[in-house]
Amino acid sequence: MKTTDDLTVAGRRVFVRADLNVPLADGTITDDGRIRAAVPTIRGLLDAGARVVVASHLGRPKGAPDPAYSLAPVARRLGELLGQDVAFAADTVGDSARETVAGLADGQLALLENLRFNAGETSKDDAERGAFADQLAALAHAYVGDGFGAVHRKHASVFDLPARLPHAAGGLIATEVGVLKQLTEDVARPYAVVLGGAKVSDKLGVIDHLLERADRILIGGGMAYTFLAAQGHEVGDSLLQSDQIPAVREYLRRAEEKGVEFVLPVDVIAAKEFPDLRTKAPAGPVEVAADAIPAGLQGLDIGPRTQELFAAKVADAATVFWNGPMGVFEHPDFAEGTRAVAQALIDSPAFTVVGGGDSAAAVRLLGLDENGFGHISTGGGASLEYLEGKTLPGLAALED
Ligand code: 3PG
Repeated sequence: MKTTDDLTVAGRRVFVRADLNVPLADGTITDDGRIRAAVPTIRGLLDAGARVVVASHLGRPKGAPDPAYSLAPVARRLGELLGQDVAFAADTVGDSARETVAGLADGQLALLENLRFNAGETSKDDAERGAFADQLAALAHAYVGDGFGAVHRKHASVFDLPARLPHAAGGLIATEVGVLKQLTEDVARPYAVVLGGAKVSDKLGVIDHLLERADRILIGGGMAYTFLAAQGHEVGDSLLQSDQIPAVREYLRRAEEKGVEFVLPVDVIAAKEFPDLRTKAPAGPVEVAADAIPAGLQGLDIGPRTQELFAAKVADAATVFWNGPMGVFEHPDFAEGTRAVAQALIDSPAFTVVGGGDSAAAVRLLGLDENGFGHISTGGGASLEYLEGKTLPGLAALED
């Protein structure tokens, strides 16, 4: 992959596809990690005299403008972090975008409105995506792909646009790919993988792949209850994907055959109801054994014995990859499991990688030291698909 040093950028309009898809609550950014991660590449281009056109998606609007998904709050935060004005275009390829971009001087930048306000961005139809990419290409002289969190999407700005302009990978993508290569090509052992999050169906591909590579797979979060049910345990009212039980049983069987250690929760923190994340009102948490969760209770976090067990499995690993929270960490009654796993990674001498999205946000929301990890990825789905061995469209497009 070419780097930005291979492009002529001074005095030219450079389109930077970033992933500024940050969580918002009532219009306020609750975790600006992805914006901060985008800054170095943008800063480098501005300092080199480029006229930078930044673009991103935010959330999943339905191919038309929707104020709830406006990037306006992101433009403000980006300006604060860069310490300079960000001209915000009210559309993606319309009059506002063209005028805003035309008004840039060397060393200035603009942010376009949410790319997904245009149906062409995510279209499955190559011609429709291509037509939108043509319009985006008209805004710039060169393309820098730096939105690692979106490289698994075959979208116009990620996949089609680089083919239309001289292109290079930004520093964030280069760093992310370098780290993930270490996990796939030359991993130091023992290699422990901690997986959490709600749905086991989202993680099937990566589990399948990791059974051939990891030494230990630790399962927490909502997906753990499908594993417990697959072992024949009662899971009460916990989240359960019963249609996935046969697949999970097969994984447990293969793990045993291959000598891969599967580590499941031994206790959980449960409650009668899912907690109110807005008021954070006390939810009446109780500790129960993971193999006998009573009817009327749902598991919402891993319990203290599981926290210790997981910490021990992380402590003597040489490499740890963690994706997905251990429980409903947004509520204080169910945050300890995620905090304990994060702290175990910080305390471990292993090379530790936090894979994206929710787990990265959890690290920051829980006030943990980001510098305690080997790497915190900005891509959740993207890093998982990379580890699955899939070809990622946004990386393939930057290859040649
Ligand atoms: C993410 O949050 O994982 C990326 O920004 C991609 O978003 P998407 O899953 O809506 O495509």
